Amino acid sequence: MKAAVYRNYGPPGVVAIEEVETPSAGENDVLVKVRATTVTTGDARMRAFRMPRGFGLPGRLGLGIFAPRNTVLGMDFAGDVAAVGRNVTAFKAGDAVFGAAGRCHAEYLVVRHTASIALKPAGVSYEEAAAAPFGGVTALIFLKDWAGVRSGDNVLVIGPSGAVGSAAVQIARDAGAEVTGVSSAANADLVRSLGARHTIDYAREDFTQSGGTYDIIMDTVGATSFARAQGVLRAGGRFLALVTSLGELLFLPAWTKMTGTKRVIAGVAVAGSEKIQALAQLLETGRFKPVIGARYPLERIAEAHAAVDTGHKRGNVVVTIGA
Ligand SMILES: NC(=O)c1ccc[n+]([C@@H]2O[C@H](COP(=O)([O-])OP(=O)(O)OC[C@H]3O[C@@H](n4cnc5c(N)ncnc54)[C@H](OP(=O)(O)O)[C@@H]3O)[C@@H](O)[C@H]2O)c1
Repeated sequence: MKAAVYRNYGPPGVVAIEEVETPSAGENDVLVKVRATTVTTGDARMRAFRMPRGFGLPGRLGLGIFAPRNTVLGMDFAGDVAAVGRNVTAFKAGDAVFGAAGRCHAEYLVVRHTASIALKPAGVSYEEAAAAPFGGVTALIFLKDWAGVRSGDNVLVIGPSGAVGSAAVQIARDAGAEVTGVSSAANADLVRSLGARHTIDYAREDFTQSGGTYDIIMDTVGATSFARAQGVLRAGGRFLALVTSLGELLFLPAWTKMTGTKRVIAGVAVAGSEKIQALAQLLETGRFKPVIGARYPLERIAEAHAAVDTGHKRGNVVVTIGA
């Protein structure tokens, strides 16, 4: 099968299409013929070995010290079940599925049947389904599980036009929150169309001076800090930090929990079967519609990486396979 392989850390050009062995399903596995995947900021970070401060050593130990151990990237998939192992009852050959896994930048992928995989709702395209997990799971975990967003909350999303931010606006709105997005003027219409009531242009206005106060501030792009934002957080407010240094990750949540009512929430959102099922429901009912800013065929995946590297993609960059 064809796969996008990277054998060294570096710029988008380190990714090349190669023939590799097609995996096969073990007795608890589902073999998926991938129809669509994404290049996420996570993939681009791993490819370039561009880690937040403090994550260099753990990153090298996890990914490979001199070169990547796992040479195929990709975190989201949508496709058709090609085969299942003998213990698998929830899926059968021919089912359309989607989810989150490693090594999605390939024609075939093996996923454990109890892992992050669900049936794709019929009315949702493979491309949309593939664009759902990275941003959708992160937004669900940060906003609902960790911050407990409620109807009537005032929520500020910084970076609302990105993969995580565009999902966060929709999920906060769906929970009944009043959402403000801090975006560029060029993306303000998009952000409003996703459900934000207000937008603040980050090039012209400072959100800390715009008169609003918030129950939740979600910084999806690492554009600000708790120190700057806390003045516009209400008592009991939560600052959701998606991009932190290792020191901030270890120190700030614990420190703010001990010292006041305003808290920093940080961590790594990890998908799971239950979250992918929840996304399937949101997709099926139209309450979450992933934003797709660009599409590339697998053969041009290096261009997809370059688009992600700009830091200014809209929503998700989708890669189609065998279309
Ligand atoms: N902790 C976790 O579990 C977790 C999970 C997933 C992702 N992440 C991290 O979250 C970050 C965001 O991921 P993503 O995929 O959503 O990013 P992304 O899609 O690449 O974000 C790009 C978007 O952010 C906007 N943007 C850039 N600078 C901005 C600024 N200063 N203020 C407001 N908007 C700005 C851009 O719009 P303009 O073109 O208009 O500037 C663009 O639409 C990544 O660093 C990723 O590693 C963390």
